[in-house]
Amino acid sequence: MAMTRRDFLQASLATTVAACTSSRAAGPGGAPPTPATPSRILILGGTSFLGPELVEAARARGDTVTLFNRGKTNPGRFTDVEQLHGDRNGQLDALRGRKWDVVIDTSGYVPRIVRMSAELLAPSVERYVFVSSISAYDESIPPGSDENAKIAQLSDPATEDIRANYGALKAACERAAEAAMPGRVLVIRPGLIVGPGDPTDRFTYWPVRLSEGGEVLAPGTGDDPIQVVDVRDLGSWMVELSDRRATGTFNAVGPAVRTTMRQMLDACQAGTGSKAALTWVPWPFLEKEKVEPWGDMPVWIPAGGPESGMSQVSIVRAIAAGLRFRPLSDTARDTLAWWNAQPVERRAKLKAGLSREREKQVLAAWAAQGKRAG
Ligand SMILES: NC(=O)c1ccc[n+]([C@@H]2O[C@H](COP(=O)([O-])OP(=O)(O)OC[C@H]3O[C@@H](n4cnc5c(N)ncnc54)[C@H](OP(=O)(O)O)[C@@H]3O)[C@@H](O)[C@H]2O)c1
Repeated sequence: MAMTRRDFLQASLATTVAACTSSRAAGPGGAPPTPATPSRILILGGTSFLGPELVEAARARGDTVTLFNRGKTNPGRFTDVEQLHGDRNGQLDALRGRKWDVVIDTSGYVPRIVRMSAELLAPSVERYVFVSSISAYDESIPPGSDENAKIAQLSDPATEDIRANYGALKAACERAAEAAMPGRVLVIRPGLIVGPGDPTDRFTYWPVRLSEGGEVLAPGTGDDPIQVVDVRDLGSWMVELSDRRATGTFNAVGPAVRTTMRQMLDACQAGTGSKAALTWVPWPFLEKEKVEPWGDMPVWIPAGGPESGMSQVSIVRAIAAGLRFRPLSDTARDTLAWWNAQPVERRAKLKAGLSREREKQVLAAWAAQGKRAG
């Protein structure tokens, strides 16, 4: 069945969401003048992908960290960090009577649940950092859109169906946090977060596939723009903003300059030492073969397609506030090293991208068409 970027997001969410601006104008953006000082940081979550990077970045800066989660995901991940247990969906008692400088919410998907934690914590924290998504925007936003672009709307304001309304619910969560703590919220809207530890295998598909060598199906002309952010760059920047008590709304994705799919795959080859041969197959042919952007060919959104703005959002504000990017080749290298260190069962099947068998079929069909045309 055809799988769009939105479908794929929904499918990924089924495995990553266990439980559980916006219509307000984006804040002025940029880091406020407050100098960065060590903070007491509470993370609602902290043990899957982005959370651990926040923990490491915070500790490296001398911040103290407390995690609040159910103790289900990677329970042994941190043995030397304070962990409070509860459930965001109504069991928040462990947070009562405590004080932190900043709370970072990595696990909010439903406004009712974000409202609960933001209202409870409003008297005991200075800032609420909400991890939203560029999916909070309407998918039709034009390339180059900034933080004031059109927001995705909920057709039913009462819905909590995360799979069907991920982006619009994220936008509603942003509003819920702001309503509970006016002027004290920092909203981060990441694009595709990639790098070591990514549970979704989307970017990971490329370094892994390229490192296997042979003929690799590459989508489009090579000129379509892509956007990703290394989880380590995102994590350290978010902690820096937290230490500075920043507020406002920021798109958070990279690289710093316009980067094409070809440049990304070149970087993956450089980072992994791959000698694979890329065969670029145009979108119309892939469409005919039912090979979908994003779902089958991760990270790729065709430039002329209906969702093309989602891989070309403006990051001017984030860069001005200090977001920096390591080379994509480093991300590819480290992602492959991480992948290769995973248990055999984890490496048995990538969760994203085409199977080798399907890739072979499509490449054969493309070669046959070339022969017919020639
Ligand atoms: N991946 C991407 O490309 C991407 C792009 C844009 C935005 N985002 C956003 O980035 C964030 C990253 O998430 P992450 O999973 O990497 O964060 P994380 O903080 O590393 O992991 C999620 C945490 O939430 C906890 N949790 C889940 N349900 C809970 C509940 N009901 N009560 C208390 N704790 C709960 C989990 O622990 P327990 O299971 O033990 O409770 C886990 O510690 C998400 O908000 C996502 O929407 C991701």
